[in-house]
Amino acid sequence: MGTRDWDVVVVGSVNADLVVGVDRRPAPGETVLGSDLATHPGGKGANQAVAAARLGARAGLVGRVGDDGHGELLRRALAADGVDLAHLVTTPGAPTGVALITVGPDGDNSIIVSPGANARLGPDDVAAARAMIAGASVVSFQLEVPLPAVEAAARVAAGAGGRIVLNLSPPAPVPDELLARCDPLVVNEHEAAYLLGEGAPRDPRAMAAELAGSGPRSVVVTLGADGAVVADGTAPGAAAPIRIASPEAEAVDTTGAGDAFTAALCLRLARGDALPDAARYAARAGAAAVRRAGAQSSFPTPDDLPPPPAGL
Ligand code: RIB
Repeated sequence: MGTRDWDVVVVGSVNADLVVGVDRRPAPGETVLGSDLATHPGGKGANQAVAAARLGARAGLVGRVGDDGHGELLRRALAADGVDLAHLVTTPGAPTGVALITVGPDGDNSIIVSPGANARLGPDDVAAARAMIAGASVVSFQLEVPLPAVEAAARVAAGAGGRIVLNLSPPAPVPDELLARCDPLVVNEHEAAYLLGEGAPRDPRAMAAELAGSGPRSVVVTLGADGAVVADGTAPGAAAPIRIASPEAEAVDTTGAGDAFTAALCLRLARGDALPDAARYAARAGAAAVRRAGAQSSFPTPDDLPPPPAGL
């Protein structure tokens, strides 16, 4: 294993989030009125890079933006948080990725992503970023960029002894070779059910145990306000999944909370925490991120983190 110049390198998406608050979502063929439009920096990849950097990580991002105003906004936001952008490529003639987001009265969100430049990220970009990917303690992926780029980068990271974290969002089929490198695979209950298919258990512990037995080195099933379940197939005697509680938080907007969780998890894994301890820290970051509007605008510094829930 060589020198690690980065704690966390994210290979992933960069989106402008176009957000409207609604009392309720329209049914097909229906029109509803919403709030003023807000434009925030987002994208699961960029969100994770910013969240990790804000918590103190040396973070880098491998991704693509378009040659437009949204691309500039996102680049500025990432730079302001100190994310290394040496491998954030501007793509002439492509629009920056956009996420159309509605936020309901309970802070819940629905998202449609138009990938734009994100869809142009490929193995050539990974080859250009090889030194950064190989120099990371943890390399983090989601599925808003093409799978060939993810697979190529995971191969580089694995070859260099880096730890691979994959958030299966949005859910899509992934090859067994990639799944076997995940340590952990991070999924919410919907994504877990997608992977497990028909007959999937409903109990999150059973889901985590079944997923851990199906390929990944370890699994984290996130449960929003209810915390997470961790199944670490590599820890001695760790067959039984562990439940992690989340601090209580009043939800204003849950957009990006999962990204804050995963970024915090990556940072603590990079610093040497065991997976359950990293997940306890991550739950505090996820809880902090629901208290404010937007994705990156809601991410905590270490001082903003709520204390761990009592008794843990
Ligand atoms: O996870 C939240 C993110 O998903 C948003 O920022 C949006 O860009 C979509 O990628």
